[in-house]
Amino acid sequence: MADIQLECREIWKRFGGFEALKGVDLEVRDGEILGLIGPNGAGKSTLLNIINGVYAPTKGKVFFDNHEITGKKPHEICRLGIARVFQIPRPFYEMSCLDNVTTAIMFNSNVDTVKAQKRALELLEFVGMKYPERKPDEITLQDKRRVELARALACEPKLLLVDEYMAGLNPSEIQEAIELLKRVNVELGVTLVWVEHVMPAIMGLAERVVVLDHGIKIAEGKPEEVVRVKDVIEAYLGSDMVMEA
Ligand SMILES: Nc1ncnc2c1ncn2[C@@H]1O[C@H](COP(=O)(O)OP(=O)(O)OP(=O)(O)O)[C@@H](O)[C@H]1O
Ligand SMILES: [Mg+2]
Repeated sequence: MADIQLECREIWKRFGGFEALKGVDLEVRDGEILGLIGPNGAGKSTLLNIINGVYAPTKGKVFFDNHEITGKKPHEICRLGIARVFQIPRPFYEMSCLDNVTTAIMFNSNVDTVKAQKRALELLEFVGMKYPERKPDEITLQDKRRVELARALACEPKLLLVDEYMAGLNPSEIQEAIELLKRVNVELGVTLVWVEHVMPAIMGLAERVVVLDHGIKIAEGKPEEVVRVKDVIEAYLGSDMVMEA
């Protein structure tokens, strides 16, 4: 068990009369990049929401570093070392990108403004954001994603939950994003659980892949093995999986 960083045990999530997750087990190893794939509505974002405390599961338990975190609030979970990059970035639009990241650092630690701003500039440089003084509505989608990533890194996570980081990016931006996520993993030593529809990105970067469909885990394994599983191919037929970057 020593190298298991995150464990989701039989997670169920019901919304009204609808079961979005039906007994999902997930184990994430310390330091790995785990791809979480599946068609629209499979329950991927819901599972991330349960891991970082946006939702409590209807049934089931979540453990991080061998401690149970089920039902804790997102800010508590963030302080324990789990950060989230959301599918739709939600920065503070009235603040500069630098102030967005500085605020996130100050929210998550007790450092003063000067130190927080210095760290924010380092993080923005790390993610390749060249316009820290701009506001979020003055920058490209790629830069918005970079700033969102820097905000997530503000809590110095051990585990980063990434939701559709590549969506809407062009092929060269996708390549840069792949390199950036790889650097987060290798240089910062952060484990990634990464939801993505852009298959070549997953194939190139994820060490293991888990496939959800209709709230059930239907496959798990190396990316090149998983995409050959009949149930996975059928689940994805007619969906918006992107096969070419
Ligand atoms: N807050 C909610 N209230 C009601 N139903 C919800 C809620 N959140 C998610 N659902 C439903 O749960 C199911 C799973 O949604 P989820 O967002 O987890 O899917 P997903 O796998 O992330 O899909 P996508 O690839 O489109 O982002 C969907 O049918 C969705 O409509
Ligand atoms: Mg989603």
